[in-house]
Amino acid sequence: MNFMESFVVSVGGSMINPSTVDIEYVREFSNIIRNVKAPKVGIVVGGGQTARNYVGSMKNFTSNDFFLDEIGIMATRMNAKILKASIGNLARKIPEDINEAIVQLSEDDRVVMGGTVPGHTTDTVSVLLAEAFGIKKVYNLTSVDRVYDEDPKKNPHARPMEKIGYKEAFAISLKSYTGAGSNQFMDSVSLLIAMRSGIEINLMHGKDLNNFENALNGKKFVGTKIFGN
Ligand code: UTP
Repeated sequence: MNFMESFVVSVGGSMINPSTVDIEYVREFSNIIRNVKAPKVGIVVGGGQTARNYVGSMKNFTSNDFFLDEIGIMATRMNAKILKASIGNLARKIPEDINEAIVQLSEDDRVVMGGTVPGHTTDTVSVLLAEAFGIKKVYNLTSVDRVYDEDPKKNPHARPMEKIGYKEAFAISLKSYTGAGSNQFMDSVSLLIAMRSGIEINLMHGKDLNNFENALNGKKFVGTKIFGN
């Protein structure tokens, strides 16, 4: 792999933990991260099925989104811990906030974390981590292959976008916001943070790790670049 700039990668929980932990995926992803020649890499992990399971179960006892988010965060940290075990340096704890993460990243070159506080998803954590550390590139490995101009589940004629500006991406994301557990390509707050700091987001389906490697190496990849007006 070529030398590349520092980056943050947000790995959707549905990649790491679609029903149970996908060990092969964790291994393959970790291999890429171990071989990558970037000075600093932040890795932010989503909650996947464990989050859905626990948030869903807790809904029997409360409908308060703050507390539902709290248990979702716990799930993201469990997935982060597994990924950390695979990448190495288990002695380091999973950072619980961005400040802690950037201290680790300045000392270790790699940091693995999950969620931080209620009110957003790990999409926002990844962009905040990039912002705080002065990193300008985020890769979002998720469960859709591209951003579409409309919800493709509702409109079969929705157009896939190769490139989209922050404002348009924000508007599309906001339209599909339905509260906790929303099915958005990225949460809306993350797009505002990216916009204010000019952070380029490269979104793609997380299953195809060759595609991710192409993106890392500056080659053509299937996905959407979110940047600019
Ligand atoms: P995810 O980042 O996995 O959210 O966090 P998601 O977008 O719902 O899941 P995917 O990407 O589609 O698989 C899981 C849940 O944990 C809480 C939220 O409730 C979120 O839905 N969370 C996560 C927070 O409240 N704060 C965080 O910083 C991260």
